[in-house]
Amino acid sequence: MKILVVGKGGREHALLRAFDESPEPTDLFCFPGSDAIAEIAQPVEVDGLEALIEWMGVNDIELCVAGEESYLVKGEGLANLCEEAGIPCWGPHKQSAQLEASKEFAKRFMERHGIPTGGAVAAGSLAEARAAIGGHYPVVLKFDGLAAGKGVAVCLEESQGEAFLDEVFVQKRFGEGRVLVEEFLTGPEVSIFAAVVDDEYLIFTPARDYKRIGEDDRGDNTGGMGAVASRRLIPAATLERIEQEVVAPTVAGLRSENLPYRGFLYFGLMLTPEGPKVIEYNCRFGDPECQAVMPLVKGDLAGFCLGGAQGELRSDLLTFDEGWSVCVVLASAGYPAGSRSGDVITGLDAIGDARVYHAGTKRSGDDWQTNGGRVLAVVAGGVDRKAAVDAAHVAADQVRFDGMQRRRDIGILHFETT
Ligand code: AMP
Ligand code: GLY
Repeated sequence: MKILVVGKGGREHALLRAFDESPEPTDLFCFPGSDAIAEIAQPVEVDGLEALIEWMGVNDIELCVAGEESYLVKGEGLANLCEEAGIPCWGPHKQSAQLEASKEFAKRFMERHGIPTGGAVAAGSLAEARAAIGGHYPVVLKFDGLAAGKGVAVCLEESQGEAFLDEVFVQKRFGEGRVLVEEFLTGPEVSIFAAVVDDEYLIFTPARDYKRIGEDDRGDNTGGMGAVASRRLIPAATLERIEQEVVAPTVAGLRSENLPYRGFLYFGLMLTPEGPKVIEYNCRFGDPECQAVMPLVKGDLAGFCLGGAQGELRSDLLTFDEGWSVCVVLASAGYPAGSRSGDVITGLDAIGDARVYHAGTKRSGDDWQTNGGRVLAVVAGGVDRKAAVDAAHVAADQVRFDGMQRRRDIGILHFETT
């Protein structure tokens, strides 16, 4: 099967490895890909979405998979254009991907379908935002658009709120757009992934990511410094409640509003004292949660995604390992404020049974060098959490590069729900 994955990071590397390990032979391509991905999937060099669709048509691609989200909402939308071209696509149509692209759209969708989430008011100006906040802190401010992970500010006090509003409405750092003023929620976070095929779904292994750069969840927000995944991450009763109160009504809501959806749908949840509430939807798998979850997925992921893209939920093709998986991210010097490239990476051949997925590396002769903020994800599994934590951290200890940043509490911190 000829499969093309859109994206270039650690998540796409993990998806492509899983496709590569599917029982049917695969011929893999990636747009734009990376040097590491090129070892298993041929990079496609075209300029833009329309050219990509044409390339896929000419090259008989049988399945297009949206690893990252941006092309889902660019131009006419990746999935919409694939449909016109007759190419099965695992990833939703542009109108459905508004669940991720517009926080206001997502909030109104949840309100219409009674899906638990924090209360929120939309504001189109500095004055409206201040009025909506009404001096009540803490509050959460969210720019209503894709902002490369920088569009959310959890503001414990007024100075933080004012600083974010200045970025949005005065400096216009993210371009034109409104802000959602949202109720501040508390509780552990969990990421739930459903493979959605029209009115059906299959829930993958739950995961938790670690967003802050520093141990004990201190310091700046990042793209994710690690993740832990297991069926046992949260109690079965909690997962059941999430399915009944969040996943099922979301899938039914998409159907009732004629929003076509075939692809992964990510529910970012907070387990508040009143129950699970949705913080965000993403129309793709999580990064770095994907790197932790994929090694637990057994069976034929390629066949599963193709079936789904063609409208058939093939749950029979997959099983999920009952163990645990821990993903430790190794980030470059200066991340997340900046990043440094060109540091030589050593120890990659000493990680034993662990897996390593490349997020920001490049080849230089026989060496791998850093090439971005998040550089590598080292992933290992175990029958229980401790075994997976130990294996992942021991493997991560083998890898070195100058200025490397890494959290040693990945998989350890936050276990109050288990
Ligand atoms: P997001 O970019 O939507 O994933 O949000 C980034 C982070 O902000 C989340 O992982 C939460 O830790 C935090 N956050 C988002 N919404 C809320 C909320 N309503 N209350 C408290 N924290 C939130
Ligand atoms: N792990 C957070 C995300 O993928 O958005």
